[in-house]
Amino acid sequence: MIMYKSEKLVQHIKQLIENGSYSANTKLPSLRAQAQVTGYSLMTILNAYQTLIAEGRVYSKEKSGFFISEYNYNTYQKTNTVETSQPQKIKINSKVFSYLKQTQASDYIYFSSAFPDEQCLYNTKIMKILAHYAQQKPIGTTNKNMPPGNLKLRQQIANRYILQGIPTQADDIIITSGALDALNLALQTLTQTGDYILLQDTIFYGAWQAAERLGLQVITLPTHPQYGFNLQAFEDLLQAYPIKVCSFMLNSHNPIGFTVNDKIKEKIASLLEKYQVYLIEDDTYQELYYFGQKPLPMCYFEHQNRVLHCSSFSKVLGANIRIGWVRTETFSEKIQHLQLMSTLAANTLIQETLANFIATPYYDKHLQKLRKQLYQRKNLLYHLLLRYLPSSCHIHYYSSGYFLWIELPNHLNSTALFQILLSQNIGITPSHLFSIHEVPHNYIRINSSFHMDSQHKQAIISLAHAIKYLIYQRMPALLHYFKTDSNAFRRL
Ligand SMILES: Cc1ncc(COP(=O)(O)O)c(C=O)c1O
Repeated sequence: MIMYKSEKLVQHIKQLIENGSYSANTKLPSLRAQAQVTGYSLMTILNAYQTLIAEGRVYSKEKSGFFISEYNYNTYQKTNTVETSQPQKIKINSKVFSYLKQTQASDYIYFSSAFPDEQCLYNTKIMKILAHYAQQKPIGTTNKNMPPGNLKLRQQIANRYILQGIPTQADDIIITSGALDALNLALQTLTQTGDYILLQDTIFYGAWQAAERLGLQVITLPTHPQYGFNLQAFEDLLQAYPIKVCSFMLNSHNPIGFTVNDKIKEKIASLLEKYQVYLIEDDTYQELYYFGQKPLPMCYFEHQNRVLHCSSFSKVLGANIRIGWVRTETFSEKIQHLQLMSTLAANTLIQETLANFIATPYYDKHLQKLRKQLYQRKNLLYHLLLRYLPSSCHIHYYSSGYFLWIELPNHLNSTALFQILLSQNIGITPSHLFSIHEVPHNYIRINSSFHMDSQHKQAIISLAHAIKYLIYQRMPALLHYFKTDSNAFRRL
């Protein structure tokens, strides 16, 4: 299924708003000018502008044209936030463990997976380089790859920051065993048991696990419904609590998907400096953007070395690569000390291989191809979901990454939905895995990276049936109808 042209334009304009290219009150190109640039019809462009008006992103002025709406930091309700985010110790690891165990069967539809379809990640060039180094005796000296890691690899990673206008030396990079190791090391470097840290209220479960492991007191920051990041709530919490470290995802957020725009990032940086707080930024999906420039990390905006930027190759080359890094100008020594007491060093053979692969143009070619494929697959799944899910479901779509975040109608419990689908060997990720709050959990995360064959399509139809079943379960008369007529599901 193809994405409609007007939707494409809507996504493109949203991206320009999110990355700061379009600020408040910027005039959009006239219908005619936009038609000339895009080659779309005037009606298509009008449809796109009207969608943006309906979503509050754009307003129209009589006889003047269309303009970007005023940026609104204050959608969040002040009173709620501080009440709901009392510091607390975390206990989430057992929940995550049992969820992962349940979703590991081999004949499974992996909409629950946190990683892209392996077929999209496979690259013959890297395999050739790997085979070349595997045949060498000995496989490069181990010392060369001990913390802070392979110099050539660190140089290659540093160069990619420089391309974004962030001065970085190889010595600012420490190679780790994946992004999770990077996040854990960064958090351990900056905290002691009992310290207060701030996490987004909905976030990748690895962040909660890291806090649990270190016995930290966690405060949560509410998500801004429109911009992802809630600046007003952020400043309130910094004033209310002695927060030492924040750990955030600001680009292609897992699970929700948003990318915070540059204006908000600038303000976050100034608040970090004002309140003397450190930030661990999880930027594991940084390469998976589909329009414009690669989103900037916080170290672009912050100049007191308060940001420890963590990422990895897991989402672009595969989780089994297990190579990540931390970028920090200040804490390299301390991180290396901690590595010597935990993972020691990342795999030598893989470090050598990556260092050489990334230095070739094949890495960027691989990324380009991957972005194109993931973008197409995401759009395809998005449109299938629009077609099959009940209209009371809201699908949060962002043009980066490969997750779709689906809001189920208010009363539906996403864990019950997960259990129903599990019995049909279909994996989805329910929202209680991303939050520590005992609030109604009516969201699910779906991985959109898989090839949409008939089996996957059938799984989407089953998902829709299961949601409808849960909706109608609330209505006893209809439930009776389901019980007496086994085909009732399919006809919904
Ligand atoms: C947001 C986020 N951070 C970190 C990780 C861990 O990545 P790695 O496999 O590189 O340790 C994941 C993996 O799912 C993730 O989604």
